[in-house]
Amino acid sequence: MKQVFINIKELIQVRPKGIQKLSGSEMKELPTIKNAYLLIENGLIAAFGSMEEIPKISVDETIDATGKMILPTWCDSHTHIVYAGNREGEFVDRINGLSYEEIANRGGGILNSAKKLQGTTSDDLYSQSEARLKEVIRQGTGAVEIKSGYGLTKDAELKMLKVIQKLKQNYSIPIRATFLGAHAIPAEFKGNKKGYLKMLVEEVLPEIANQDLADYIDIFCESGYFSVEDTDYILTAGKQYGLVPKIHVNQFNAIGGVQIGVQHNALSVDHLEVVRETDIEALIGTRTMPVALPSCSYFLSIPYTPARDIIDAGLPLALATDYNPGSTPSGNMNFVIATACIKMKMTPEEAINAGTINGAYAMDLSDEVGSITKGKKANLILTKPINSYHFLPYAFGSNMIDKVYVNGKEF
Ligand code: NIG
Ligand code: FE
Repeated sequence: MKQVFINIKELIQVRPKGIQKLSGSEMKELPTIKNAYLLIENGLIAAFGSMEEIPKISVDETIDATGKMILPTWCDSHTHIVYAGNREGEFVDRINGLSYEEIANRGGGILNSAKKLQGTTSDDLYSQSEARLKEVIRQGTGAVEIKSGYGLTKDAELKMLKVIQKLKQNYSIPIRATFLGAHAIPAEFKGNKKGYLKMLVEEVLPEIANQDLADYIDIFCESGYFSVEDTDYILTAGKQYGLVPKIHVNQFNAIGGVQIGVQHNALSVDHLEVVRETDIEALIGTRTMPVALPSCSYFLSIPYTPARDIIDAGLPLALATDYNPGSTPSGNMNFVIATACIKMKMTPEEAINAGTINGAYAMDLSDEVGSITKGKKANLILTKPINSYHFLPYAFGSNMIDKVYVNGKEF
């Protein structure tokens, strides 16, 4: 099967093979080809270039993209899209003056979602989650990470991970699974956090490894949730089963999550709304990708990750949604890119790099997705007619996507 897109107004994020991530000033550049063609063979990017150099070959399908642009699909490296029910009641409580913390302390928040999920069948959980996965693919996401963490019992955590596994089997975008058993302390273990963590390590982790249910391990390293010491314990245990750390740090307080993440060679440290100079210093020269979640800052009205400080220090930065029922009920990467430009003063070039190749890196997927590169998956966004790609974050409330392609197939 061969398809060719012709007359592409601008082909965006064109990269040679081998680029894993972009750091510091490299993020300012977004290589493109104007008036381009793009050839797809069996779902992979086979060739591209200027229309003047288009080879004479016979193809099965020709798509005229006059006036439109093509970019790689978004790589959303941090989501919780497997969950049951919603929490719009808490949303209204917050409007009426309660804080996220106060709601959590009353048994709302993560524990509220866990109760709902425990009482939901696997089939129901699958169909609720599948609807969200389809929604985000239509919004341009072509690779995604999904976490557990709304189960908080052995059975419910495994139920979540099996739903993620089934999504992996039934959908052809790359999906990565993360075990986030240490997301909150369940009511049954109130006052016995160590007992809960021990249960996760001794009973749940071996089963996850047995059934190959997770790629990564996560923990909510935050005051009132899990300490640096707890983080060290859970990451050490995860490593024994081959799970790589990708962790929640510095959302409300900087308590040393970045440092322990780096010490464990984490693939990413995510959230980072509260960042100290020492946190930036700790990340320099490491392989750990900082990940910002601007929709979460928007929805909770908390600070935005200081992207300028991070990038200007020469570090890379990835952008992701954090799609979840409590702090970010949106999986729209287009909004994330726009918000990063509007609120975090990232340039459109930096934001697009952060939402594509750097997001791919934060899921170990840089060789498969995240740029227009020969041999990568033809997971593509075809825009509506636009004047420049700056229009994408500028028109923050408009859907500028015409079509999304997964492995060369229209989704
Ligand atoms: O990433 N911060 C921890 N976990 C989620 C929110 C959890 C919830 O409120 O349901 C997050 O924002
Ligand atoms: Fe999260």
